[in-house]
Amino acid sequence: MKIIRTCAEMAALCRDVQRPLGLVPTMGALHDGHLSLTRRARADSATMAVSIFVNPTQFGAGEDFNSYPRSFERDLDLLAEQGTDLVFAPPPEEVYPDGFDTWIEPGSVTEGQEGEARPGHFKGVATVVAKLFSIVRADRAYFGQKDGQQVAVIRRMAQDLNLGVEVVTMPTIREADGLALSSRNAYLTTDQRQAAPVIYRALCAAQELWRGGEQDAGRLRAAAMAVLQAEPMLELVDYVSVVDADSMAPVERADTSGGRRVMVAVAAKLGQPRLIDNIILGDG
Ligand code: PAJ
Repeated sequence: MKIIRTCAEMAALCRDVQRPLGLVPTMGALHDGHLSLTRRARADSATMAVSIFVNPTQFGAGEDFNSYPRSFERDLDLLAEQGTDLVFAPPPEEVYPDGFDTWIEPGSVTEGQEGEARPGHFKGVATVVAKLFSIVRADRAYFGQKDGQQVAVIRRMAQDLNLGVEVVTMPTIREADGLALSSRNAYLTTDQRQAAPVIYRALCAAQELWRGGEQDAGRLRAAAMAVLQAEPMLELVDYVSVVDADSMAPVERADTSGGRRVMVAVAAKLGQPRLIDNIILGDG
């Protein structure tokens, strides 16, 4: 396993590797959610590259960039166990040198949800992912459904800009009690951790209602909201959204006929920590 610190060296190495080349972009603090992506990338690819880069430009002022969990040595052990070929871990000034002045601005797919709650977030995500795609030139790149709007932004970008990489979306990995794995779960106190599965329960309540034949988005949202509001530890529900899973446009009816996929997404604050999760109606 090679660890690469510069864009130039990574680009040069990636030009000569055996194809297919699979890329898994991460911000480190790896958990089983990340490892489900590397496992799939390993199975699909002759060469597997993983990036570890806590991308400053996707964090807003007052967000957790400085305190974001970092566990580089442990991450390297896990990636070695997974049979990773290349680990790209550049310092920030390598990705954003002095004078850096070009950005990717995703469009309407960022209206609502995280795009609204975290202004500029997806501009930072899209820009860094475009740079990674351009440096690595992978055949496939792997992302988790856990960040449902992020994967929609990246799919749209890859298609709109002809980036020549196939975007593969992998299912959300959860704890036994339903809590979606996230590096940010490390912020939860014991009490908050106990309360956190309420988010998945709320999503399941909407899904159950939908399975029973209800398609009205307002009623599905209300069912999820009722579960969330019954949990006193939840301080703020940022949103419960029912959207088209590709365009992220809100839908009035969760009608999945004709292959349309509908996503129910929640963001909520359990005290300081803010958690997001989603479910695709019709999946599984
Ligand atoms: P990070 O939060 O480290 O996540 C890296 C990848 O792991 C993302 O595609 C994310 O959706 C996926 N992931 C996280 N938790 C998961 C879970 N429980 N199940 C399945 N997949 C999961 O997302 C980012 O980093 C950054 O925004 C990045 C794309 C690397 C750009 O900086």
